[in-house]
Amino acid sequence: MKIILLGAPGAGKGTQAEVICKHLNIPTISTGNCLREAVKNGSPLGLRAKADMDSGRLVPDDVVIGVVKDRIAKDDCAKGYILDGFPRTVAQAEALEAMGVEIDKVIDLEVPDETIKRRLSGRRVCEGCGASYHLDFKPPKQEGVCDACGRALIIRRDDEPATVQDRLDVYHRQTEPVKAFYAARGKLYRVEGQEQVEDTSALVLKALEAGGISEE
Ligand code: AP5
Repeated sequence: MKIILLGAPGAGKGTQAEVICKHLNIPTISTGNCLREAVKNGSPLGLRAKADMDSGRLVPDDVVIGVVKDRIAKDDCAKGYILDGFPRTVAQAEALEAMGVEIDKVIDLEVPDETIKRRLSGRRVCEGCGASYHLDFKPPKQEGVCDACGRALIIRRDDEPATVQDRLDVYHRQTEPVKAFYAARGKLYRVEGQEQVEDTSALVLKALEAGGISEE
């Protein structure tokens, strides 16, 4: 199964990708994580992406499309995958279609901007393995320390309040039109993000199990 997770920054795409990954046993491809890894390693890709990411802008389409094309060609993607954070522009959606990729379902996580701001201000991520926590909704066992690898938890640079507003503006302007692209193809399933992660997960799994007709 090939699934796209759409939604604003902080809508819970990464959180729900983990749930679907366990449920269907298919890999998650997070373009944000791929790019952050490249920045951390100081690779040419990372050097090209860093300024855009830090300021909340999108990285150029050709760069991200190249990353996804290489990644989905790997053996572990043969049975399907979850795309978390891609496509984010209509041009990226068109490029995916031009690669011959047939998407089964697009799950659109709908969360109001004010909730997003609250979520992102409380997010902490591990500087080592990248695991994500939240001060209120998913606190680590020991304050400031990753449960999984013991490294320090930090605030993502693009989670600073001013940058979050810029990311939301970019989302509304450049990513929202992607919904209409998939709605026109009968692939879009809207899921309202809930206060509790488990409640959202239950709706996401229900949307995955629903028959071939989308809600659009
Ligand atoms: P990316 O890493 O994809 O960032 P994003 O879309 O802004 O998504 P986030 O990781 O911030 O949020 P999420 O939706 O995964 O939410 P999460 O589950 O963590 O991209 C970063 C940058 O890379 C972009 O700005 C851009 O520059 C570049 N980029 C990436 N892809 C690109 C592309 N295709 N084209 C161009 N540029 C690209 O949840 C957020 C928080 O809320 C967590 O703390 C979580 O614990 C908490 N939470 C989640 N669900 C709930 C809930 N139900 N209740 C309460 N708390 C919850």
